[in-house]
Amino acid sequence: MKKLIIINGPNLNLLGKREPAIYGDLTFIEFLIKIKAKYQEVDIDYFQSNIEGELIDKIQEVGFSYDGIILNAAAYTHTSIGIGDAIKAIETPVIEVHISNTFGREEFRHQSFISANSKGVILGFGLQSYELAIQSFLNQA
Ligand code: DQA
Repeated sequence: MKKLIIINGPNLNLLGKREPAIYGDLTFIEFLIKIKAKYQEVDIDYFQSNIEGELIDKIQEVGFSYDGIILNAAAYTHTSIGIGDAIKAIETPVIEVHISNTFGREEFRHQSFISANSKGVILGFGLQSYELAIQSFLNQA
């Protein structure tokens, strides 16, 4: 069975309450329950932290054994050379996801330290961005 992990960065623990016009009104745990039921052929782990170093520790921990990482580094996307370097350092492919279309928002959200070393980037589809990333890992030969 393929082993994937969704890693969420800062403030994504507030999904459902946080700026619902942008991020929707579902909590991530509610979404995760649905997604795990829908994709029972894959093992999906979940980790969230508001702390940059904890995100790097988790990327290092799973980055040599898991089949895929789905990473929404949230605001650290736009600031963290450390997370970008961690993605470069590991073997597991990373798909960068965002709930919102960051290119339609403030200019500081247009820069990503994650994209260059990711397998691909999926953004702007709401929580479906995560699902599209799961599908892309499942559909590969
Ligand atoms: C986000 C976009 C980021 O710019 C923002 O800082 C987030 C969430 C998204 O999923 O749309 O926290 O990564």
